[in-house]
Amino acid sequence: MRRERVMGWKGIVLAGGAGTRLHPVTLATSKQLLPIYNKPMIYYPISTLMLGGIRDILIVSTPTDLPRIRELLGDGHTIGVRFSYAEQAEPRGIAQVFLIGADFIGNDPVCLILGDNLFYGDTEFLRRTLSHKQGATVFGYPVKDPQRYGVVEIDRDGRAVTIEEKPANPRSHYAVPGLYCYDPEVVDIARGLRPSARNELEITDVNLAYLARNALRVNLLTRGMAWLDAGTPESLLEAGNFVATIEHRQGLQIGCLEEVAYRMEYIDAHQLERNAAMLGKSDYGQYLLQVLETSMV
Ligand code: G1P
Repeated sequence: MRRERVMGWKGIVLAGGAGTRLHPVTLATSKQLLPIYNKPMIYYPISTLMLGGIRDILIVSTPTDLPRIRELLGDGHTIGVRFSYAEQAEPRGIAQVFLIGADFIGNDPVCLILGDNLFYGDTEFLRRTLSHKQGATVFGYPVKDPQRYGVVEIDRDGRAVTIEEKPANPRSHYAVPGLYCYDPEVVDIARGLRPSARNELEITDVNLAYLARNALRVNLLTRGMAWLDAGTPESLLEAGNFVATIEHRQGLQIGCLEEVAYRMEYIDAHQLERNAAMLGKSDYGQYLLQVLETSMV
C-alpha cells in the first residue's frame, strides 16, 4: 500500500435511508450496521476512503441511527482518523449531504461514498483520482442490471454523453457506483438543485451540472475491480459470500479498519496492539495480532 497523504480532501459517508428494500431486517436497525460477513457494512466504505488517503470523515445518517453508528465508530482516534457526525433529518436525496455538510466541506474537495457500497481491488485508482482537485470525477462499472443504478453513456473518447438515474432503457451497461469526487463548488451546485419527481435532490443532477460545465470526468473501473452494493437481501448475501471467499482463501481481511490504519501509517504498532486487546478473543482481534506479528501486505 502507498502511504502518501491526500492533502485537503474531506470524506463523507452517507449512511442514511430507511433500508426499505431490506425490510423487515431494517425495521429496527440501520442497514449500514448489518454485517457483511464478519464486519459492519459501514466499515467497507470507510476503509475505501482511508485507503484513498482521506482521514477527515463526516458520517451522515438518520437521527435514529446516528447514535448507534457513533457508538460503533467513536471519534476515530484509535484508527488515526477524525470522524464527525451529522443528521439527515428527512430523506431528501443523496445530494442533500452537500447542504448538510457545507460547513464541514468548507473550501476543500470532497469524496462522497454511500454506506452500502463495497470496493475491492487495487485502490490506486482512487488515489490517482484524488490528485485532480478541480471539477468532478465519477466512475463507470459494467453491470448486468444497469436499470437499478445511475447509468452513464460514454463516447469513443471516454467522455460522458449522458447520465440517467435508473433508466427503464439504459443506454449503456455502465452503472455509476456510489463513490463521487467533487471540488468545493458542489455545495453551490447542490443549493441550486430542484427536487426530482420523487422529491429528492438527485446525485445524478449534481453530475449533470458538472457535465454541463464540461467539468465531469468518468473513470471506468472494469476487470480486476469488484464493486458490490448491499441494499437488497440478494446483494447483501452475495457481498457477504464474496468477502468470506476472499478472506478464507487468502487469510487476509477486507475492510479491516485497524489494519488499514496500521498499513497506511495512521497508527503505530502500540495502538494496533491496544485495538486488538479491546477486540479480545474474536477472530477479528486475533487477526489484528497476526497483522502485528507478520509482514504480510
Ligand atoms: C444510488 C444512486 C445511483 C447509484 C447507486 C449506487 O441509488 O442514486 O445513481 O448508481 O446509488 O449504489 P440507490 O442505491 O440509492 O437506489
